[in-house]
Amino acid sequence: MSEASSAPGAVRVRIWDLPTRLFHWLLAACVICAVISAKIGGNAMVWHMRLGYAVLALLLFRLVWGLVGGRWSRFSSFIYGPTAYWRYLSGRARAEDQFEVGHNPLGALSVFAMLAWLALQVGSGLIADDEIAITGPLVRFVSIETSLSWTAHHKTWGQWLLFGLIGLHLAAIAFYRWRHGKNLVAAMVSGDKALEASVPASRDSAAMRLLALGLIGLAAAAVYALIGLGAA
Ligand code: HEM
Repeated sequence: MSEASSAPGAVRVRIWDLPTRLFHWLLAACVICAVISAKIGGNAMVWHMRLGYAVLALLLFRLVWGLVGGRWSRFSSFIYGPTAYWRYLSGRARAEDQFEVGHNPLGALSVFAMLAWLALQVGSGLIADDEIAITGPLVRFVSIETSLSWTAHHKTWGQWLLFGLIGLHLAAIAFYRWRHGKNLVAAMVSGDKALEASVPASRDSAAMRLLALGLIGLAAAAVYALIGLGAA
C-alpha cells in the first residue's frame, strides 16, 4: 500500500489521534526545555528535574497508548519482522504492506530507540548525584558507586546519544520531505494523511480522548508516587 497523496481518489485519513499528537509535541517541548535547564544549571535544575518527571509520565502514557490507542499509534502497527525490513529496504513492498501509513520500518526503529533511550536517561536521572547540591529522588535506593556511574552516563553518553537520535529523527523527516516530497510534520500536526480511501483510520473519538486523559492522569500519579518513595 503506497501513500497516494497525489493519486486520484486520495482522501484525508486520520492517522495520528489527538492524544498521540499532544504526546509528541509535549515530549519534544519537555526534552528541549530539560536540556536547556540542564545547560543553565543552578536554580534551573529544579525545572530540569520537574521536566524529567513530565517526560517519565509521558513515556508511561505512551507505553499504554501503544496497546490501547488509535490503530496507527499501536505498537502492533509498527513492529515489523525481518522479512518486512527486507522488503522495505530492497524496495519490494507487497500490495498489502502499509509502510507509508503510520511509522515506516526505519521510522519505527528510530521511535523505539528514542523512547527506550529517553527512559534510560530519565531512569539514570532518578538515581543521579552531582556531588554538589542535586540528587535524584531515588538515590537512596542505590549504592554511591552505582549512583555515580549512572550520573556519569546521564551527563555523557546518555545525553550525547539522545542528541544523536533526535538529530537523526529530524534529518530523516527533512530527507523524506526533500527526497519523497512527503510532509510528515503536517500529519503530526493535523493528524491526517492523504491516502487511499481503503486505508483504515485511527479512532480519535471523544471517548478515546477521555480515555487518554484518564491514562495521563494515572501516569502522572504513578510518577508522583515513585518520587514520593524517595522521601518516605
Ligand atoms: C526533542 C525532540 C523530539 C523528540 C524526543 C521526538 C520524538 C518523537 C517520537 C517518540 C515520535 C513517535 C511518535 C509516536 O508514535 O508516539 C516522533 C514522531 C515524529 N516526530 Fe518527533 N520528536 C522530537 C522533535 C520533533 C520535531 C522538532 C519535529 C518537527 C520538525 C518532529 C516531527 C515528528 C514527526 C513528523 C513524527 C512522525 C514520523 C512518522 O511519520 O513516522 N519531531 N517524534
